[in-house]
Amino acid sequence: MEEYNVAVIPGDGIGTEVIAEGIKVLKKVAELDGRFAFSFEYFPWGCEYFCKTGKVMDDDGLERLSKFDTIYLGAVGAPNVPDHISLRDLLIKIRQGFDQYVNLRPIKLLNGVPCPIKGVRREDVNMVVVRENSEGEYAGAGDWLYKGKEQEVVLQTSVFSRKGTERIIRYAYELARREKKTITSISKGNALNYSMVFWDEIFRDVGKEYPDVRQYTYLVDAAAMFFVKDPARFQVVVTSNLFGDILTDLGAAIAGGMGLAAGANINPDKKYPSMFEPIHGSAPDIAGRGVANPMAAIWSASQMLEFFGKKVWSNKLILAMEKILTEKTVLTADFGGSASTEEVGAEIIRQMILL
Ligand SMILES: NC(=O)c1ccc[n+]([C@@H]2O[C@H](COP(=O)([O-])OP(=O)(O)OC[C@H]3O[C@@H](n4cnc5c(N)ncnc54)[C@H](O)[C@@H]3O)[C@@H](O)[C@H]2O)c1
Repeated sequence: MEEYNVAVIPGDGIGTEVIAEGIKVLKKVAELDGRFAFSFEYFPWGCEYFCKTGKVMDDDGLERLSKFDTIYLGAVGAPNVPDHISLRDLLIKIRQGFDQYVNLRPIKLLNGVPCPIKGVRREDVNMVVVRENSEGEYAGAGDWLYKGKEQEVVLQTSVFSRKGTERIIRYAYELARREKKTITSISKGNALNYSMVFWDEIFRDVGKEYPDVRQYTYLVDAAAMFFVKDPARFQVVVTSNLFGDILTDLGAAIAGGMGLAAGANINPDKKYPSMFEPIHGSAPDIAGRGVANPMAAIWSASQMLEFFGKKVWSNKLILAMEKILTEKTVLTADFGGSASTEEVGAEIIRQMILL
């Protein structure tokens, strides 16, 4: 029997609530399949932990996490802790420390989810954004000089290495080839005359090895407009860390909102664990009431199953969610229902068993 070791970091706020449902789903999948099992170990890190200990994650955190196959993360963030601390000391530390250089975000309008854009058909919203996740604008390079003085100056330097740029673009080309999809690179070469010209050049060069993949390029401003006006243009999208961050939130908005948006941080070499997470935050405005939508967390569990090669189960979770979204009887408040987080989790399991 295969066993997958999963490190669970529920985090703060609704992170703990939605991850609890994701874990129930994963346990049920393993039980129904019978050929593999999960073992889960919990880590209490996050902002609440920071308030008690002064650390978002223990100093030996990466070392301890390195022994796991994957990490399942809820969300970190709290109103009384500066966001750059929680983001840098946990999320980015893990993404960079484990060389999770691919951030994979499906943007798909599931059956039953009302399309917020007039004149756009459901099947038009179906893309995967491959976001560079290890360097670029989020490399953390720069300086803050003459703090508080008249001549104060800050530098935030983007870092685009040949290795880093080539590997993310190649990953996206491979995905497009495998799935027989088009590829679109989103950049900004007209204004960012070093980093993005370099990016465009590498996209073109690597593209020569993929003549079978139809290739497009867009400036990020135009791409943002077309995400809304004509999302059917995009199938596999590859872009930098910052642009990907912004565009995928826009993508979440056109595909049903934060309650449905999932993301995977992948180390394709499998030298380090990959991390799966809903992309929403800890939602302090609704935390503790048991009303958060667990679907984003369950979609990221589905991504984890796909990562483990369990495509059939991964698809079943999506189908179960579509069933619920279409029937509209057990939904959380963000989709106009009155069900609790737990009730939606239980209904997804029930529907999955029926499939
Ligand atoms: N990956 C992460 O850990 C992550 C991501 C984003 C934000 N954050 C942190 O979370 C905290 C809150 O951030 P924010 O308010 O900007 O973003 P948020 O995603 O937490 O919430 C934005 C809005 O969406 C709603 N929402 C989010 N997820 C939902 C769900 N599953 N079901 C129903 N409604 C949902 C919230 O109620 C809120 O109104 C901040 O501290 C921020 O830094 C963490």
